[in-house]
Amino acid sequence: MAKLYDRADIYDLLETDRRYQIVKRHWERVLSGKQVRDLLDVSIGSGNLTLPLAELGIGLYGSDLSEHMLERCREKADKKGFPIDLRASDFRRLDESFDMMFDCVASTGNSLPYVTNDEVLDVLGQMDRLVRPGGYLYFDVRNWDKITATKQRFYTYDPTFLENGVRMDLVQVWDHHEDGSMTFHLLYTFERENKKFQKEIFEEHYFPIMRHVLLDGLERLGYGEIELMNLPAFVETVEPDEADWYCVLARKQEASI
Ligand SMILES: C[S@@+](CC[C@H](N)C(=O)[O-])C[C@H]1O[C@@H](n2cnc3c(N)ncnc32)[C@H](O)[C@@H]1O
Repeated sequence: MAKLYDRADIYDLLETDRRYQIVKRHWERVLSGKQVRDLLDVSIGSGNLTLPLAELGIGLYGSDLSEHMLERCREKADKKGFPIDLRASDFRRLDESFDMMFDCVASTGNSLPYVTNDEVLDVLGQMDRLVRPGGYLYFDVRNWDKITATKQRFYTYDPTFLENGVRMDLVQVWDHHEDGSMTFHLLYTFERENKKFQKEIFEEHYFPIMRHVLLDGLERLGYGEIELMNLPAFVETVEPDEADWYCVLARKQEASI
């Protein structure tokens, strides 16, 4: 089975200028009134949820397990003239790749649930070690509480119209396993003149994580001012309990004198 993150070209087909502007507005809302000069995204992938921060004047750093996604992120940053420091790194071992601190350390794109719940708590600890006192830890994830409660099986996307009259559709089918983990089957189909001419199938394995586990983990690390927001954060018409995704920003204690 092909790996989605080896196909950053396909992964990025959902990205449009409109989505880029939405992400930029999202960060404006999340960071409003906060002192954040630099940010490390430990699952930056191809940069879709992070690169717009450069336009807000934030110094960008990124790491990811996938060299293909990082390569794509580099190309996109160069094209826009955004300086960015990118490193290959497993977020379970950030200490091997970074020896500096940041105003904000983030994990974007529902990436934390790629590792088990126990490992996620260690990842938060690894991220915390790179956050300056008084700085912020941020992550976004799917609403796993809702997914596991409803045993939702299908997730569809609006069609994407590509160049050359090609229409792309993405459908996800989700398997809930007895051990609590999940497999997402991703089916991309490509159609021209009412004929499907290509399909690409990928599988992703996740460990659903409940919101209270993440929030308790942050509190145990000494984080306060915990803000739970929608993704994108400026959408206030949906309750985070009902939304498909949410994000969290939390503040690390100032250093004691
Ligand atoms: C859904 S993508 C999100 C990418 C990007 N943040 C975005 O939103 O477009 C998930 C990313 O998590 C990365 N990832 C998965 N496990 C990881 C790990 N243990 N350490 C670092 N990155 C990891 C994958 O390589 C992939 O780029």
